Amino acid sequence: MVALIATTALAAFSLPLTLAYPSPQPLLGLPTGPAPITDPRFTTWNAPGSGDVRSPCPGLNALANHGFIHHNGKNLTIPHLVDGLAAGLNMGVDFTVLIGGAGLLASPNPLGGSFDLNQLDQHNFPIEHDASLSRQDAYFGNDYSFNQKIWNMFLAVYKGKTTTDIPTAAKVLSARTQDSQARNPQFTYGLREFIFRYGETAIYLQTMSDPVSGVARLDFIRELFEKERLPVDLGWRPSTLPITLASLGVMVNNLFAANPQNVPEGATILKDSYKNLIEGFIGGSEVLGNLTGGISKQVGL
Ligand code: HEM
Ligand SMILES: *[C@@H]1O[C@H](CO)[C@@H](O)[C@H](O)[C@H]1NC(C)=O
Ligand SMILES: *[C@@H]1O[C@H](CO)[C@@H](O)[C@H](O)[C@H]1NC(C)=O
Ligand SMILES: [Mg+2]
Repeated sequence: MVALIATTALAAFSLPLTLAYPSPQPLLGLPTGPAPITDPRFTTWNAPGSGDVRSPCPGLNALANHGFIHHNGKNLTIPHLVDGLAAGLNMGVDFTVLIGGAGLLASPNPLGGSFDLNQLDQHNFPIEHDASLSRQDAYFGNDYSFNQKIWNMFLAVYKGKTTTDIPTAAKVLSARTQDSQARNPQFTYGLREFIFRYGETAIYLQTMSDPVSGVARLDFIRELFEKERLPVDLGWRPSTLPITLASLGVMVNNLFAANPQNVPEGATILKDSYKNLIEGFIGGSEVLGNLTGGISKQVGL
């Protein structure tokens, strides 16, 4: 159901795409959907302590700081991530199983069933890439910590605005591409990087607002990136609709359509769906099934 919508929407490529909202899928008896806002984890925030590990991902770091996933950042299994990402951010099960499966490939023992956040800093595979929004390229050193100079480029494009929108989010991506192209002699940018970068932009837009509009408060996004904190104190609440591969795929398409000249390879990419592309990078449905101990099959991946 979910996959079908993504494929159809992207193949049709009529602009702008709208999302026919799929019903959330229950899985494995795990609770899906966000925790009630009275859940103490929303108001509990602890910086990582000694021995704790973090990643190039502001979303996972924030969830660890709130204790929605293990605060030490270690031993993250697929069911643990499904549970924590749904509770804190209403991430759909399909998203977490697929991207969590990609995350497992970063661990020294991918079939061991868990990874640690610091393993995700591995450059160019499976997920980490150049031209991030808030991290410097690996060529310059640390590719995992928040970097104010890089983030200032994001803020400069949004200057004067208090909310996000698809065209501006697309301009930020172009600005970051141009910067890496100009300064990084080892800049790597192809299909894999395109799909993850545009996907991550769709994720910050959707987690900080809803799976459709692309209009989120900029102060919410700044707190997520700058403090690695869910902006509950500013009035943010988790999306009432789940954020799925279908909702992200539609927004990736619309981001690309808003500024297509910067990613010529996008034209080919969008003939296929977001889900299929990421599954392809992982090695296909069979590999994902083995990595996730069969969980991916239960959600139709
Ligand atoms: C199991 C699930 C997830 C995994 C394995 C994962 C992994 C990663 C990795 C490795 C990166 C670094 C890519 C790069 O910029 O070089 C990244 C970036 C990012 N992730 Fe996640 N992530 C997950 C879930 C989430 C969630 C739930 C959010 C929600 C806010 C999120 C938001 C982001 C954003 C916005 C970026 C871009 C950061 C930047 O460009 O500076 N991710 N993720
Ligand atoms: C890893 O987490 C699982 C549950 O998610 C737990 O059963 C196991 O004991 C943990 N292992 C370590 C080494 O912490
Ligand atoms: C999946 O695991 C099974 C059982 O270990 C193995 O026979 C098969 O080759 C694996 N498939 C892939 C694509 O890795
Ligand atoms: Mg990066």
